[in-house]
Amino acid sequence: GIISTTPLLNQAKKGKYGIVAFNVHSFDSIYWVLEAAAEMRSPVILQTTVGTVKSLGAENIVKVVKAASEYYHVPTGLHLDHCTDYEVIKQAIRAGYSSVMIDASMHPFAENVRRTQEVMDLADSLGVNVEAELGKVGGVEDNIVVSEEDAQKAVPTECKEFVQMTGVPTLAPAIGTAHGIYKGEPNIDFSRIEQIGELVDTPLVLHGGSAVPEEDVRKCVSLGMAKVNVSTELKNAYSEAIRQHFIEEPESLDPRAYLQKAKEAAKAMVASKIRMVGSEGKV
Ligand code: 13P
Ligand code: ZN
Ligand code: NA
Repeated sequence: GIISTTPLLNQAKKGKYGIVAFNVHSFDSIYWVLEAAAEMRSPVILQTTVGTVKSLGAENIVKVVKAASEYYHVPTGLHLDHCTDYEVIKQAIRAGYSSVMIDASMHPFAENVRRTQEVMDLADSLGVNVEAELGKVGGVEDNIVVSEEDAQKAVPTECKEFVQMTGVPTLAPAIGTAHGIYKGEPNIDFSRIEQIGELVDTPLVLHGGSAVPEEDVRKCVSLGMAKVNVSTELKNAYSEAIRQHFIEEPESLDPRAYLQKAKEAAKAMVASKIRMVGSEGKV
């Protein structure tokens, strides 16, 4: 079934491995991710943006994730990604999400604290994990767009203060990655992650996990980034497989044919990310 991500991430951090949080955009992709995780005996987090909640429905998503995680016997956290709207957070928690992100990173520090506290008041007593962001992660995720000039790294002392003031169990500090596929290589500020890790005990979250080189992901995980978010690479992998199907066989309209190709591409991507963070065999 759906489990709390708090013990999952605390355990991962202690064990020096990561948990991948895959963004899913369709019901099929929920099954694909969980089938791959099951084959690798890996715990996993599924996450949806607000756009996906609006498209599929929070209660529908919860029911499908619950059914699929029970079918595959995979411990699965269900997380609401990058939410700026308290009402949607309430709706997700009511539906059965085990984790929510309040993204108030576009606001000044004090307002970010206030909005995060408001969500903590709602979620914490229900055992729902809360993730907050400090600094600004660049790139595009759903309708949140942050240009390269506006991207801003988290300040370590502010991370400490923020965790003390809000009590958040999970923190996403911007450390140089961006949402989407990079033009060049990401410029990850490892010494900053190290400093933050010395000041706060909570598991940290790596946003913008797509296209981050393997050794960089491993280093981030070793420095306490226990949750690694992957969206773009997964959806691109299976969308590309479907496109390829229609290039090669434009007359073949059998969904079982093109969705099988999509599934294989999705599962291969999931497996490679799970191997990267070292969560294989942790179930
Ligand atoms: P990518 O699209 O770069 O994988 O980023 C995912 C993410 O951070 C979701 O919150
Ligand atoms: Zn993100
Ligand atoms: Na990225």
